[in-house]
Formats: sequence, structure tokens, C-alpha cells
Amino acid sequence: MQDKAVNYYEKVGAYYDQDAPEFEARYWKNPVLQRIRADFRTFVHKEKFATVLEIGFGSGLDLAHFAMSHPEAMCYGIDVSQQMVNLANEKKTHYNLPNIQVAQGSVEDVVRLFPGVKFDMIYVFFGALNTVKDLSLAADALGQLLDKEGKMVLTFVNKWYLQGTIIELLKLRPRAAFSRFFKVWGGYSPSRYLESVCYSYREIRQHFKNYSLESYRGYSIMHPAWYYIRFNILLKNKGRWLLWNTDLWLNRTPARKWGEYALYVFSHKNG
Ligand SMILES: C[S@@+](CC[C@H](N)C(=O)[O-])C[C@H]1O[C@@H](n2cnc3c(N)ncnc32)[C@H](O)[C@@H]1O
Repeated sequence: MQDKAVNYYEKVGAYYDQDAPEFEARYWKNPVLQRIRADFRTFVHKEKFATVLEIGFGSGLDLAHFAMSHPEAMCYGIDVSQQMVNLANEKKTHYNLPNIQVAQGSVEDVVRLFPGVKFDMIYVFFGALNTVKDLSLAADALGQLLDKEGKMVLTFVNKWYLQGTIIELLKLRPRAAFSRFFKVWGGYSPSRYLESVCYSYREIRQHFKNYSLESYRGYSIMHPAWYYIRFNILLKNKGRWLLWNTDLWLNRTPARKWGEYALYVFSHKNG
């Protein structure tokens, strides 16, 4: 890694080191995040894979999930946070999953950390690619790692979250309403700053122009985002079910690009 990038990743790692102890407990309290993760996983399960890489695995929930569902596959992971690496290693030991191997680092470090390994599945759930120093370079690095026939399931915090912009404007919070459009976004937490970038559909297509887009899904278009907790409670199960299904339908229209979160499945061109 270059010096500037090292410095940036140290900051991102320190942010998530601090997040690590509470990370999973917070997640298990949030049914919206759980539902979105379950949907992300279906895109990985659709593919056949033997050697998988997760970038930014956090506490290792998905690594453990895929290591259990595919005991014959080798599941590699990298994360910039040493505390997250420790949590994932604890899971590996707790569930006795010898097919997990994790290390501390970012996309640029994979070749050094796992020399000679090619992956037929690479996935990123919840945010790690919004905190890379240069997304085009990261996209190229992923291309070197991905097997010729492999698939990548990549998820991003989306720039054009229309409903969120309207809600924040109604709350008379213009800065929050437009924060995703700034060159640098400060992350989700109102009290802790995380230097990150939100990307539009067009920007992602541009950064990943050397890949074929196999599928796309936008999340939380009409369904309130995971962090509108009171709004989600008010809706109750029926309301949330209705809006989740409305979003599925909206994914057939141009509104699919206006969700809070976005998932892309890429493969090599002519793969
Ligand atoms: C929001 S958490 C999501 C964790 C996990 N994927 C999940 O869904 O529970 C983002 C994780 O990505 C890691 N991360 C952030 N930027 C990264 C980068 N550039 N390279 C590798 N890991 C990164 C963080 O340390 C953190 O563990």
C-alpha cells in the first residue's frame, strides 16, 4: 500500500476497532439489517463457488455462514480492523470452521496476504468499498483476484437515496439531506466521523466499466432505511412487508437507483 493509503486505512481500522465490541449486539437488534443481509446472501448462494473472499467481514457473520453452508469451500477474508479480525477468529474457533482464513488488510493487500489464490466468489456486504482510497484501483485489484468464471457480489451505500433526502428536508436538516452528495461523506454516525464516499449507479458502472453487470438490486427505496428505527417500529410487520415488496416491484423501474443501499453482481467481460 502507498503511504497515504496506509494512513487512511489506519484511520478506518481504528474507527472499526472502536465499533467492534458493540457491533454484533447492535446488528441483532435491527430486523431491517437482518432482512437485507439475508437477501444479500441469496445472491451469493445462487452461484457455485469453491474459493470465496469477503472484504470487510466485520465480526465474521457471513464468513461463518458460508463456511458452514459450504464446508468443502475455502473462505478467506480481509478486514482493516484488527479487532474485527480477532472477532472473526473467535467465531472460527467457536464453530470449529477450519475452512476460514482471515487477515488484516484492504483490497490492495490480498495478493500479499493470500499469495497465488484466485477466487471464484468475492463479496462485500455493508460498506467496505465505500471506504477504499481509490475505487477504480480497488476495482482493478479485484479483477486480478477474480477467477475467469468468478462472480462478485458487491454492495454500496448509495448516493441517490431519495426518500432519505425528503425525510431529512422535512426534519429541516438540509445538511443531512444532502450529505451523500458531498465529495466526502462522514458515515452513518452523527457523533463519530468516518471518511467515506457514497456512489451513484452511474459512478459504480464507471468504476467497474471493465466488468459485465449481471444483476442489480436497490434496497430501502420506499421501505425506510435501517437507521429510521422509530419509523420502522411504527410500520409494524405488515407495513414493513408491504414496503419491502413495493421495493421489489420498484426494482423493475428506474426508481431502483434511488434506494439507500445497492447491490451489484459483476463478472469479467467475456468471462
Ligand atoms: C459496516 S462493517 C460491515 C461488516 C460486515 N461485512 C457485516 O456485514 O457485518 C464494515 C467492515 O468493513 C471493514 N472495512 C472498511 N473498509 C475496509 C477496507 N477498505 N478494506 C477492508 N475492510 C474494510 C471494517 O473494518 C468493518 O469491519
